[in-house]
Amino acid sequence: MLLHIPCLFGKDEVQRIREALEQADWADGKITAGYQSAKAKHNLQLPEGHPLAKEIGAAMLERLWKNPLFMSAALPHKVFPPLVNCYTAGGSFDFHIDNAVRQPKGSIERVRTDLSATLFFSEPEDYDGGELEIQDTFGTQRVKLPAGDMVLYPGTSLHKVNAVTRGTRLASFFWTQSLVREDSQRALLFEMDGAIQQLTRDVPDHPSLIRLTGTYHNLLRRWVEV
Ligand code: NI
Repeated sequence: MLLHIPCLFGKDEVQRIREALEQADWADGKITAGYQSAKAKHNLQLPEGHPLAKEIGAAMLERLWKNPLFMSAALPHKVFPPLVNCYTAGGSFDFHIDNAVRQPKGSIERVRTDLSATLFFSEPEDYDGGELEIQDTFGTQRVKLPAGDMVLYPGTSLHKVNAVTRGTRLASFFWTQSLVREDSQRALLFEMDGAIQQLTRDVPDHPSLIRLTGTYHNLLRRWVEV
């Protein structure tokens, strides 16, 4: 399942983030790439633990934890702290699948990468190329979102970032370990949760709502890993 989560940050906020990132000291993106993907990856990245990356990451996670769409779709257990990257001057990242397990620097806890997410900081009209291409069961999806918006997609998918041929593409990305490992099970729970929310608005007193909500939780209990 591929999900667009709009407006996590407002236009003023992304403007401030871009200004701060323009002053930052960037490193080669290969620092967090595995052996194979290092050959495919041509971009810049803030080093893990960089104060600005930490600040932006903390603000993102605070928003996400309050975002009903993210909570319902990702059913997050834990996340790998967001990293910030920059594609410019022909920079690209060829097709790859992200590593299955990530260990944040200085942490003993490991994160299984069930879901990947990209939050765009640059406006689409400010750069050419730079689309995130994701291969899923419905074919290839090309994603290039307004600044402040995020895309969430299964960590199992093959994906790439097309070369940026004009301007600069600033974005943040991170991984989530979900309470529910399988994408198909998460997608089913997300659909069901959405329908229950809608019914709660439209027919709040219908007695079947209690049974339906109970069934959602009983399915979740079956599949949850904590
Ligand atoms: Ni990737």
